[in-house]
Order: sequence, then structure tokens, then C-alpha cells
Amino acid sequence: MTDSKILYGGDYNPEQWPRAVWEDDYAAFDKASIDTVTLNVFAWATLQPDEDTYDFARLDEIVARAVEGGRGIVLATSTGALPPWLAHRHPGVERTDFQGRRHVFGQRHNACPSSPVYRRLSAELAGRIAERYAGTPGLIAWHVGNEYGGFDGGCWCDLCAAGFRDWLRARYGTVERLNEAWNATFWSHTFSDWAQIVPPNMLSEHWRGPDHTAFQGITLDYRRFMSDAMLANYRDEKARIREHDATTPVTTNFMGMFRPIDYHRWADDLDFASWDNYPPGPREHARMALAHDVMRGIKDGAPFWVMEQTPTITASRDVNPVKRPGVLRLWSWQAVAHGADAVLYFQMRQSKGASEKYHGAVLDHAGRTDTRSFREVAALGGELAGLGDAVVGARTPARVALLFDWDSWWVAEMTDGFNRHARYVDTVLAYYRALWQAGAQVDVVPTTADLTRYDVVLAPMLHVLKGDVAARLAAVTERGGSVLASFWSGRADEDANAYLMDAPGPLAPLFGIRVEETDSAEPGVANPVTLTDGADEVVSAAQLVFEVLVPEGADVVGTYGTEFYAGTPAVTRHRPGGADDGGEAWYVATGLDDAGVEWVVRRVLDRHGLVGPYADVPDVELAVRAKDGVRFAFVLSHATGPVEVTAHASGVDLLTGRTVRQGETLRLDPTDVVLLREDPPGEPA
Ligand code: GAL
Repeated sequence: MTDSKILYGGDYNPEQWPRAVWEDDYAAFDKASIDTVTLNVFAWATLQPDEDTYDFARLDEIVARAVEGGRGIVLATSTGALPPWLAHRHPGVERTDFQGRRHVFGQRHNACPSSPVYRRLSAELAGRIAERYAGTPGLIAWHVGNEYGGFDGGCWCDLCAAGFRDWLRARYGTVERLNEAWNATFWSHTFSDWAQIVPPNMLSEHWRGPDHTAFQGITLDYRRFMSDAMLANYRDEKARIREHDATTPVTTNFMGMFRPIDYHRWADDLDFASWDNYPPGPREHARMALAHDVMRGIKDGAPFWVMEQTPTITASRDVNPVKRPGVLRLWSWQAVAHGADAVLYFQMRQSKGASEKYHGAVLDHAGRTDTRSFREVAALGGELAGLGDAVVGARTPARVALLFDWDSWWVAEMTDGFNRHARYVDTVLAYYRALWQAGAQVDVVPTTADLTRYDVVLAPMLHVLKGDVAARLAAVTERGGSVLASFWSGRADEDANAYLMDAPGPLAPLFGIRVEETDSAEPGVANPVTLTDGADEVVSAAQLVFEVLVPEGADVVGTYGTEFYAGTPAVTRHRPGGADDGGEAWYVATGLDDAGVEWVVRRVLDRHGLVGPYADVPDVELAVRAKDGVRFAFVLSHATGPVEVTAHASGVDLLTGRTVRQGETLRLDPTDVVLLREDPPGEPA
């Protein structure tokens, strides 16, 4: 990877236009300081017109023109969409959907991951591309496939059924152990032979959709299997690339918080993480920050890439509003602030036809460079070029960890009972948003991460408790740190079976409580929870889930206001070590509203001096990266009106060159960004 600047550019499909247009494109790229092009994402049909013929003539030209233009090249393997001849010749290569319908040719993200034909031909294509283009000047990275898991999240065909059985055999060894893991005595499911196992879909364990399964254990294992099956596809291709190129980093573009695939299972096989940032709405700054942090957490805090974002509009939603002036810049710097070392677009030029012809692009159908959107793209390109290598490679100095766990996400949302309106990401986001508003730097990490680096660890809805997590959370408090868990934590083991003990299972001693009952209510039905620490009191409208707690050593911080459990604890704080300077374990037994979550989170952070300087200015974000002992503080205004803040440090705003003195008033207009290279402590600017 280059370390000279934040990479800027994106998906470029010159195969869709005559050669003359390419020259216009490159001239425009120069105007916008675009240094990187991602080539060859969906071109399998022309690269390989039939099973025995490969034709790289056009890709040769495309690559040569990029080299001539001095661009960095991200070269894709083109295996994210099957060519028609392949589907026609090998019918089983298309996916069978969750309804059990075997698909015929169409769309993309359409290959069955277990198809031997797909595996052979995709690896062969990747190998031939690598053989031909390894060593190309400017080659920065290999981009394998595209958005694995897109379209229905997987495949449920007979080949996948066979693959699933193999996967289960490797995991469990014996059918007896499998029956135990799946609690198969329930509803007469005891299997006596591996051959009896079928994929859990709408023809099998599911009704109403992916969240309604009769056996969470079966569906959980199928999701793990499907993540691994697609990972095997990626590995097939990466191995072939490595035969020809030992060093250029290899990645694939993820989709942020994408439920079907457990990205943590892929971590070791990626040389860096990258993702496509298409937020669902215009006011999603905290959600985007969370998604960036999830992506950064995949590779243990190493910088990641935004592989795609739209410069203007998306095309896939029912309603596709344009990014307002300044928003593209703000969101791009937000990505950098959270650890992105590349800001790339889909797409460089708008396609002429098919489903994405109105999707935003750096260049529109007319190829204009005098539009508002192009001007913003070009201005951002200029800023990124001007910044040079200042923050490239810099890491986030986080003292707070938030555990993010696909198993918990899957199991909590596919389990009958309780309340289907309480969603995993909503719950995680509620806690993350409070951390974000407080200006705490957060690592969002898998449950296996080293927690010894953190003062504060949050585990919202950690439904599935695996391995030694309980002990490692306890260790955080033993050295004086703070942990927080929410309702539905510690409920199920790694097979998705309930712990045969009080909830929250093995976490109960740490939090000093037990859950006696779990009540639920429709959205909109609130139970007022009074939170108090003596001096300060707030009433939070709690919703959806109301665990009835019995304290077993914990102090009561919040109590329910209504129902038969009025006056009983809703939020508790346990000091397992007893001593005043020992650690604290907070348990939030209900879906507090944002004000309630913020009240709790601020107290947890405050104990460790982790409430940031702009915590009380709504929608002003502080994100920090650091390298070589230098701190880069990004102050980003997502507010809808002007705000004033007091500068937390002295330094230079690298985007304007302006000197900032600690304590001075900074006026931030909506979408404003300050990138403060902080002076070392004790050295005034
Ligand atoms: C991504 C995908 C791109 C393009 C883009 C449009 O999900 O990787 O190929 O389809 O979305 O939003």
C-alpha cells in the first residue's frame, strides 16, 4: 500500500465506453486529484468468453491507460457476477435462495459458494489475472470478488447441504455431539446420520423468514458455515494470486454492519479491511462512525479503506436524496478520522444502462466537470492531496472497547420469546452513540480481543457468551476498570442453548445481580426509569425489554416506575472488589431511551476521565488518530446549525493552515471539519 497520502478515486469501468471517453475521464481525474482507480470489478463475461478461452486484450488496454496516467491501481478479480455461458453450461452454479428456489441466470452475487465449478473457475480467473498483472506499476491492492453475501446472504442448495454436513462433521465429530449442541431431543429432531441434515431455510426450520427458526443452533451453525463457505471462495482466489504476487495486499469490500456474514471470521485472511459506506439515511453520523469502527476492529485497529461511497446519490433505495453541499466532504473526513487511509467512490463515471444508471458518479452521463457535485469531489481531492501523508497509518488511541459479536446478533434476533422489536444493532448503536457524543475514542472489537488495553469495556446485548469472555471482563474490573452490559446478555452458550443458571449466566457474579423475569412491551409503551446518583436524577422512558432483577451485591442506580416491578432495580452498579478504587460493573436491564443511556455512559466514562471536551455540544464529533507521538484531532460538525466550541488543544488546522490556541472559540458551521495537529503537551503554538 502507498503511504504517501490518503488514496482517492474509486470504481472505474472504462469497458463501458469508447476509448475516446477514457481521455475525458483522465482529464477530469486530474482536475479532481484522483490518484486511484479500482478496475475490473464485473468483467468476467468478456475476460473469459467461454470455458476454454481467456481474452485480456481490453483489460490490457485499460490497465495500460491507468499506468500511463500514473494512477494507483486496485485490481479486482471480476468474480462477483457469473458470465451467462457459465450459468447456462453448469446450471448448479447459480444459487438456491432461502425459499428453496433454484435460480437461473441473472443479477450478480449469484454464484453458489459450494459449487466446485465456481470454485475452480473463479480461482483460475484470479490466478490468470494475477499472473498477467502482478508487478504492474502502481498496483496497490488486489480486490477479490465483490460484497460477499450480497443477494439473500447465501445459498441453500444441495451442494451447500453437503458442504454444511462436512462442516458439521469437522466441528462436532459425532452425530451424538451434534444432537447435544442442537438440543435435538426437542421436537423429535435426534439425527442418526449426517445425511439427514438439510440446510435450515423456508422449506425446513424457518417460517416468516430468516429470523424465525425452530432451532437456533441449526441456523446459527448454517450462518457460520455460510460465512466460512464464502471465505473459502475468497481464499481460493487469494491463494492463486499469491502464486504470482507475494506481497501486494489482498482484500475484499465488506458492507459494514452486514448481518449475514461474520466478518470477524475473515480477519486473518484479509491484508487490510475495506468497506462500502452507503448509510441508510441522511442523519446517520453515529451509525457511520460505529460501522467505521467495526471495520477498523477487524484488523485490530489497523487503518482500513472506504472502498466505495457515492459522491451524490445511491440508486438502490426507494428514495435517493442527494448529499447536501458539504456532506460528502464531512463524511469523507469522518471516515479518515476513524482510521480510513483511502476514500474511494462507486463510481467514476455513471453507467449508461441497467440498474445503476442513475447511481451517482464523479462524472455524470454528460461527463460534466462544472457541476456542484464534481466541484465538491475535486475540492476534496485537493484537500486530501494537500494533507499528504500526515495521518496515513495513524491509529486510534482508544481507552474504551465495545464488544461486537455476530453470534449474539444472529441468536438474539432469531430467538422466539422476549421481544422481536429489540434489535442488536439498535442496542449497540444506542450505547455507541452515547460514547460518540461524549467524544470517547472507541475500539469496536470481537469478543476475543485483548481487553487489557482498555479502561472501559461495553457489552451491549452480548447474548451469546463464549469462551473466557466472562473472566476477561471480570479482569477489567479487577484492575480498576469499568464494564457495562445490557439486557439479554449472557443468556446463551456458543451453541445458542440457554445457560442452566440464573441470567446473565456466567456474567451474574461480575454484575452482582440475577434476572428473575423478563418482561416485554410493544414499541411506544414506556416504563419510566428513575436514575439517580444522589446529586443528579433523570427519568428515562425505558421501552421494549424490562428484566426484573434481584440484586446480589450490586447497588441500585435506577428503578422502574410502573408495573408490578415498580420500585425494583432497572440499572445497577456492582463493585465486585468492594474497595472504592476497585472496578465497577454496570448492568442496564432495560431499553433506556437515549437520555438514560447517555446518563449511564457518561458516569462510566467520567470515572476514567474519558468524557471529551465537546461532549455537551450535540452532534459535534471528536475523533482522534495518533502516530509517532503526534495526535491528530478531527472535530466534525454534524449539527444542523452553527455552533461554538472551545478549542481543547493548541495546534495547527491542517486543512486551513490556521493556528489554533487552546481555549479559543471555534465557530463551526454545519459540515465544518477541523483537523488539528495538536502541539505536544507543554509546547504552545
Ligand atoms: C455496492 C457495489 C457496487 C455498486 C454500489 C452501488 O454495493 O459493490 O458494485 O453496486 O453498491 O451502490
